[in-house]
Amino acid sequence: MTRLLLAAIFAAVLCANAQASPATREVPLDRMAFTHPAASLSFEDRLLFEKGRVIFQRLWLPAPVFGMQRRMDGLGPHYSASACARCHIRNGRGSAPDTRLGLLRMALPVTIAGENGGAEGPDPNYGRQIHLSTVHQHRPEAVLAVTYAERPVALADGTSVSLRAPTYRLTDLGYGPLHPDAVVSPRIAPPMIGLGLLEAIPEREILALADPMDRDGDSISGRAVILKDEASGGERLGRFGWRATQANVFDQTARAFADHIGMSSFVLPAVWGDCQPAQTECREAAHGADPHEIETYSFHMAVLYSQQVAVPARPEADDRVFVEAGCAACHRPRFDLPPTEDGPARIIHPYSDLLLHDMGDGLADDAGREWRTPPLWGLGLTKTVNPDAGFLHDGRARTILEAILWHGGEAEAARNAVVNMSADDRAALLAFLESL
Ligand code: HEC
Ligand code: HEC
Repeated sequence: MTRLLLAAIFAAVLCANAQASPATREVPLDRMAFTHPAASLSFEDRLLFEKGRVIFQRLWLPAPVFGMQRRMDGLGPHYSASACARCHIRNGRGSAPDTRLGLLRMALPVTIAGENGGAEGPDPNYGRQIHLSTVHQHRPEAVLAVTYAERPVALADGTSVSLRAPTYRLTDLGYGPLHPDAVVSPRIAPPMIGLGLLEAIPEREILALADPMDRDGDSISGRAVILKDEASGGERLGRFGWRATQANVFDQTARAFADHIGMSSFVLPAVWGDCQPAQTECREAAHGADPHEIETYSFHMAVLYSQQVAVPARPEADDRVFVEAGCAACHRPRFDLPPTEDGPARIIHPYSDLLLHDMGDGLADDAGREWRTPPLWGLGLTKTVNPDAGFLHDGRARTILEAILWHGGEAEAARNAVVNMSADDRAALLAFLESL
């Protein structure tokens, strides 16, 4: 009897696995590869996705605008870019910063360092971000200069690779000095594929991978970011952003409108975006359409769009070297998503654990050494989608190999494995990464 029951359960599990479909989509692997809706979207949701695309690509205008375009105003007064798509290029990542080429669409989040590495809040003069642009010739917050120093790294087989180490300098601060404990953390926009799938990973699966005290002794800890939810007082897992500071796409979208573009929404209704009381000219400037600069309907479409960009399907490739080098300890190949009301169980291959890891001094900025493992799906299409794209949180790595050689801290052993690899194994590793 028990045996029969077990057999039945086993069959049911097999069946569920058989139904679990990969969540990728066959699309042309060209520069538009990251612009297609997920295959699972219903016909109705596809129409909403297309509306979201318009919002994501719209160039917002300085207020006031009258007539037909009045719903498009509200930009700034201080802003980093005038559209989502200006930073997330064709839904891929942002361009590597380059002062000479004028490619400087970075986010410059600023926090006051608190005790124990915690953040105490925004800068009293500048807010949550430093913005390099303003509308109507308001005083800019700062000018950013980036310089790179080349640092050669010798691989065991005699190959030499040069890493470029960035130095960021903020000058011409327009609103007084930064707080003495302010730390600025320059970042480029990450790619926009598969974000709804990352949201659907059950929280307990990510928490189960965390090992902050490294109890299993593999030198890889992994820390889950637990965010306080101000509205409910509850706790949520951070998943998005280079340091997992946002729990979901909805929250990140609200912050993006407010902090990067300076648009108010029903979530963050301040019409002056991130401007602080000391920035009076900004606070008193004309603002956009009422009651919110971004209409609530449009806001929801932007969220849906951001969640539902398809992950392009790729051919199977040999992951032997990737696994042997220890990459999969953080870049977790697979999660199984449970069935939902809208669809069956699915298997995803994001190559991330969504946890924070100490990546050593080389990648550290003033705000710390920890970074969230970025998903590697779509990695091989990075330069196809945006030829100016860089790898890592600030785009400093020009190639995938450079990105690997920047790894340190918990990932030191994996990096050293790559340094000491035969040329054949390294080629196999890079071929695998290019296949993603
Ligand atoms: C100034 C450049 C810039 C603009 C404009 C911008 N973003 Fe981003 N976006 C970023 C950066 C940088 C991050 C990473 C944030 C972090 O590390 O905290 C990000 C992260 C995200 C993420 C999380 C992705 C992930 O994998 O963690 C989403 C979703 C997102 N942005 C949506 C939007 C939307 C929607 C808009 C328009 C309303 C927008 N962004 C406008 C730069 C930008
Ligand atoms: C201890 C965890 C850990 C291990 C082990 C690890 N990585 Fe990473 N990886 C990260 C983190 C965290 C980042 C982001 C660092 C940053 O942006 O500053 C990253 C970034 C990357 C990037 C750049 C991704 C992007 O979107 O720009 C690539 C490529 C990469 N890793 C490949 C590898 C390979 C290949 C290995 C094995 C040789 C490996 N990693 C081992 C945690 C890890």
